[in-house]
Amino acid sequence: MISFSKEDIFLVTGASSGIGRASALQLNELGASVIITGRRQEKLQEVKDEAVNSENIFIESRDLAVDIDSHAEWVIELSKKYGKLKGLVLSAGVSFVKPLSIVDYSSLKTAQDILLNAQIMLIKGFSNRKAHTGQSSVVIIASDAALYGVKGLLEYSSAKAALITAGKVMANELYSRSIRVNTISPGLILTPMVEESVKKGETNADAVQYAGKPEYVANMVSFLLSEKACWITGQNIIIDGGNSLPNIHNKF
Ligand SMILES: NC(=O)c1ccc[n+]([C@@H]2O[C@H](COP(=O)([O-])OP(=O)(O)OC[C@H]3O[C@@H](n4cnc5c(N)ncnc54)[C@H](OP(=O)(O)O)[C@@H]3O)[C@@H](O)[C@H]2O)c1
Repeated sequence: MISFSKEDIFLVTGASSGIGRASALQLNELGASVIITGRRQEKLQEVKDEAVNSENIFIESRDLAVDIDSHAEWVIELSKKYGKLKGLVLSAGVSFVKPLSIVDYSSLKTAQDILLNAQIMLIKGFSNRKAHTGQSSVVIIASDAALYGVKGLLEYSSAKAALITAGKVMANELYSRSIRVNTISPGLILTPMVEESVKKGETNADAVQYAGKPEYVANMVSFLLSEKACWITGQNIIIDGGNSLPNIHNKF
């Protein structure tokens, strides 16, 4: 059984929705204190209101797509305000769907800033000795799209693929500081991001019947942040209900 104490403080990005939201709520239910961030203050407040131990949820709204360099210092500031962090959950993300013919440098850079560069700067801040506790852990939400060449996902998939590799590099570099770094690559998970994508016709509505729940990812997030995962670092864990295996259509 995984449990945390309120002295175990985690920062969760993308906590206003979907996978980040489910992760923040689960960590809080398991006893941890959770700093939740996203741009939409009202959605973050809804998460706090829903939390089992809402007194241990702290809202810090921030746009991670701007002033990327400042994110490292921001994490250090948060640790001064709330106490040293035991872990990071990096779930903030946006879907980018564009074929090669309309990709340009500016759109590539926009995708990389939020999906890759912002994540690296947050981890840089966390890796500062002032910011993290003795045994700590970073979980980055990548995507199974990083592993396949799905049409139209050039910007999204290439940034996520780089994120998986960046996770392995940082796991190597931060091992000596007792920081574990792992990525999770979910398959299709039914969240507002996917609902929006179905509405726009970018995701086939039929695929939704095979989609997983945000909690399936949150379960792995909690495990990787816990001492039970003390021997796991530099890994990319795929959670897709077996959909990438031949002849399996998610029966779970
Ligand atoms: N759902 C899937 O099928 C799936 C599959 C594989 C990987 N993923 C990945 O999982 C992660 C979570 O996705 P989700 O499905 O849970 O999406 P979601 O429900 O749309 O949530 C995305 C979160 O990212 C935050 N965010 C977006 N842009 C931001 C910005 N500029 N600054 C700060 N926060 C920002 C949003 O908060 P605000 O809007 O409040 O800022 C929201 O909390 C993403 O990295 C996504 O790429 C999802």
